[in-house]
Amino acid sequence: MNYDYNEKSSLFVKSLGSVVELVDAPHSKCGTFGYVGSSPTAPTLMNTYTRFDISFKKGKGCWLWDQKGKKYLDAVSGIATCSLGHSDRILRKKLSAQLKKVQHISNLYKIEEQEILSKYLTKQSCAESVFFCNSGAEANESAIKLIKKHGNTAHAGKECFILAAESSFHGRTLATLSATGQPKYQKGFEPMVKGFKFFKYNDIASVKKLFKEFKNNDQKVSGILIEPIQGEGGVIPGEKIFFKELREICNQNNSLLILDEVQSGVGRTGKMWGYENLEIEPDGFTLAKGLGGGHAIGALLVQKKANIFSPGDHASTFGGNPFACRAALTVLEEISRRKILNNVFERGNQLKCGFTKISAKFPNIINGTRGLGLIQGLVINDTYTDAKTITLKAFDKGLLLVPAGGNVVRFVPPLIISRNEINILLKKLNLIFEEL
Ligand SMILES: Cc1ncc(COP(=O)(O)O)c(C=O)c1O
Repeated sequence: MNYDYNEKSSLFVKSLGSVVELVDAPHSKCGTFGYVGSSPTAPTLMNTYTRFDISFKKGKGCWLWDQKGKKYLDAVSGIATCSLGHSDRILRKKLSAQLKKVQHISNLYKIEEQEILSKYLTKQSCAESVFFCNSGAEANESAIKLIKKHGNTAHAGKECFILAAESSFHGRTLATLSATGQPKYQKGFEPMVKGFKFFKYNDIASVKKLFKEFKNNDQKVSGILIEPIQGEGGVIPGEKIFFKELREICNQNNSLLILDEVQSGVGRTGKMWGYENLEIEPDGFTLAKGLGGGHAIGALLVQKKANIFSPGDHASTFGGNPFACRAALTVLEEISRRKILNNVFERGNQLKCGFTKISAKFPNIINGTRGLGLIQGLVINDTYTDAKTITLKAFDKGLLLVPAGGNVVRFVPPLIISRNEINILLKKLNLIFEEL
């Protein structure tokens, strides 16, 4: 199958040659953001990504086609974003209708779509109120401001800290980068925003140690920002016992517990919200990625205790505009109407079973598998090869994958992926390991 290749719009896209070539980019060991490809960015674009030398011309469901008509099974979905896959018929229809109605009007006025979406989200979660923005980093930035406001009121006069986990990822703005427990991302942008301290993920002793130190110094913890499953850090699921103790410590110390559900939220783990796997309720949580099904929207959702912003405290020009809210509403309606959570659960199990078989067949290459629902990781033995090499080989075989930290190959396909498509994915994967 061949699709029209528009010379003008593709001015900087080099012809598709071999992309299987590793570049030694300065961030090449940084999970997703090592950006695996070898293509130099067009000179009119800032040099922030090393991309695959390819542009996709068409998408449908879990499949993408390049300009030569080569077909790829997409287990990246725009980095855990296109929940309903590509070019979903209902999403197209609803968004076209919304564009004919009204697109953007600003938060100077009431936005009906935003109100309906906030009702939908609060009805389905532990939250009572929502602030809308445009991305994961912006949602977490809002959460950090909220935690700071809580600390400055609840612990007025005391020096306050925000705690976050090592190997976490919370975004690229200065505050979210400061909350990210991976120094490699911070390098070159020092000094970081002050007031963040780090503990070991799933290690309650390291949290308790920090609280003890703060107590001895008459300092306070205004809140904790943490992912229910670390994505970028290497697909590491949170442990129930750890999160239960975290919840308790936050209650005892009047500290907010805010979960970063930017990657885990909206069905990715097989539950609507990642925190449901942990049997706790956070004081608030952030969303982005999967919420808009490929359209830019972020959100901070809070319970009563954390519903503390007043007019003027925070704002976002584009935040929650009618178009973005229509996208999110459609995603949520379709998840419910098509019973997509069941699919995530079943396809997640199918993927896991397949991984177990492949791991048993290639024990020298694969060190383990982990994940929940449709966020799964294969841990690659780094004395044998690395996640980037696997990703590049998969690309050649028409399978899109994305690495995560800790030498993990990450699988985050659209939530609508079918049984047959998982089988195709596993077959391709098997072939890649056989040829290594
Ligand atoms: C858990 C988590 N938080 C925040 C972000 C940042 O989101 P965005 O790139 O939309 O700013 C990401 C992105 O990968 C993420 O995985």
